[in-house]
Amino acid sequence: MSGPIPEEILTEILSRANIVDIVGEHLPLRKVGSGYQGICPFHADSKPSFHVNEAKQFFYCFGCGAGGNAFHFLMRIKHLSFPEAVRELASRYGVSLPEKPLSPQERRRRRHRERLLQINNHALQFFLDSLAGPQGEEARRYLERRGISQEVQEAFSLGFAPEGWQSLVDYLKGNSLSLEDAEEAGLIVRRRGGGFYDRFRGRLIFPIRDEGGRVIGFGGRTLGNGSPKYLNSPETPLFSKRRNLYGLHLARSAIREADAVVVVEGYTDLLALHQFGVPNSVATLGTALTPEHVGVLKRLTENLVFLFDADEAGKRATVRALDLCTSMGVWGKVVALPEGHDPDTFVREVGGEALRRAVQGAVPLFEHWMEGILSGVDKDRAEDKVRAMEMILPYIRRLRNPVAQDHYIARLSESLHIKEGRIREMLRSAAPVEDLRSRDAEVPSDPHRAERLLLQAVFLQPELAARLESHVVEEFRDPSLRELAVLIRQWRESGQDSIEALESRVQDPDSAQRLAGLLAGLEAVSDPHRVFEDCLRHIRRRGLDRRIRHVDREILEAKVQKDETRLRELQQQKAHLVLQKARLRMSA
Ligand code: UTP
Ligand code: MN
Repeated sequence: MSGPIPEEILTEILSRANIVDIVGEHLPLRKVGSGYQGICPFHADSKPSFHVNEAKQFFYCFGCGAGGNAFHFLMRIKHLSFPEAVRELASRYGVSLPEKPLSPQERRRRRHRERLLQINNHALQFFLDSLAGPQGEEARRYLERRGISQEVQEAFSLGFAPEGWQSLVDYLKGNSLSLEDAEEAGLIVRRRGGGFYDRFRGRLIFPIRDEGGRVIGFGGRTLGNGSPKYLNSPETPLFSKRRNLYGLHLARSAIREADAVVVVEGYTDLLALHQFGVPNSVATLGTALTPEHVGVLKRLTENLVFLFDADEAGKRATVRALDLCTSMGVWGKVVALPEGHDPDTFVREVGGEALRRAVQGAVPLFEHWMEGILSGVDKDRAEDKVRAMEMILPYIRRLRNPVAQDHYIARLSESLHIKEGRIREMLRSAAPVEDLRSRDAEVPSDPHRAERLLLQAVFLQPELAARLESHVVEEFRDPSLRELAVLIRQWRESGQDSIEALESRVQDPDSAQRLAGLLAGLEAVSDPHRVFEDCLRHIRRRGLDRRIRHVDREILEAKVQKDETRLRELQQQKAHLVLQKARLRMSA
């Protein structure tokens, strides 16, 4: 991800590229009249609904509504982000992307991150040496006992943090490295009375890397029964557990190749998957799956396979994954592990081949969840049937594929003995669930991206805070981000500008976590003013749409009640909103 690219550059690339060539590399096109037609690669179709207009340089599918220019086509077909698609075409057509001069603030931030990365590299070296040296004897035996192969140990650079409170501190001192930086990187902890001590002691170390392979944090496991079993780096400017996934740097190409990713919840589960021949896998890091995780994965594939433990926590994780996948428009499947197993113990019992078969046979999350509900329903009790329908219908509505919808409606009908026609009727009247995906290229995958970017832009250009007006903040959908927006405004108004002063205002742990995540991702925002304007417009447009929908409903009611005065009033309101929306569009 990188910031907005200047308009002229985008036009330059588009004027050199020919969308017919680009599309033609991915599907056969036939010339028909003045354009080209083919079978749409984005939905299951047998008719040539997919049109490419050479004169206007865009594509459109009359079947599924997919459409856009060459960038959008590449984004969809190759699961690229907008900047990635731009970079690909720019290099192909020989347009150079200018390196924008960085603002002093950005330059400082980057240098700062570089320093933290460097210190992490030193720490990694120390952990590796410790595992290999005499102190690492017990840890090496532990790894052997757990059957973690030498290759996997090396591929994941496993290490060891020795016992004692000062080992790493001393090492860093010996290399004249900044202890303040090490503290900020989460490696050491400041003592009340002064001085520092090691965060990780007597633990097996799992370095956590970002997509580019840079070490951004660490996880540490006790060798015995110590508590906590796993200790992770805190949120730092480099590391956010909401966003980062363990093993992604090694899994990336395998994920693209397989067009699927296997998601597990534990470090050792992930190591086992890699060791037993499922390299397209990643793990969350001591937190439930987040929209950010799904957003990251969605750029690589739309097929997510979840392999959660067979316990209560695993069940909760499954429901959460279902929610996220349906709202973010990706296909989620789940492998139901036998009771008492986690992916690690499972694969060690049944072997790699059986595991790969299980992954192949994964069941759609929705089906898994729905069958769970249906199995508990007593078909002879009306209340049971009604409750099941109320739980299930909103999800069926959200499924974007009509074939899948039909499939589940038929299944529901058969299982509950309700006529399909009746289910369809209920489906139409079920409360509409908003489609969280947006066609806007600026906001491709994550429903709250505009809200996040807006706040990030404010961190980079604090004077923008004055424009976080309450009617804008009220339109925020993510509750943590909404709270942060309010606090940021107050923080700026109080005339303070240190991040610590802001952090001290944040009390809700979720919001604190979001804040850390926002700060960690600042470098991706390279043109804060423009990002701010774009996101503000996006959020205001969304708000206007919401109000227009609301007025439309009221108009309908007024018509039914034949309340002429109210109707005229509402129509005026609506005209006003529509006008505001038009103005907003013209200001773009
Ligand atoms: P589990 O308790 O299921 O452990 O935690 P595990 O992965 O099976 O580990 P082994 O096999 O006993 O070594 C799953 C994940 O939850 C996070 C870690 O990311 C862990 O991999 N976790 C667990 C923590 O962050 N802290 C803890 O104290 C425990
Ligand atoms: Mn385990």
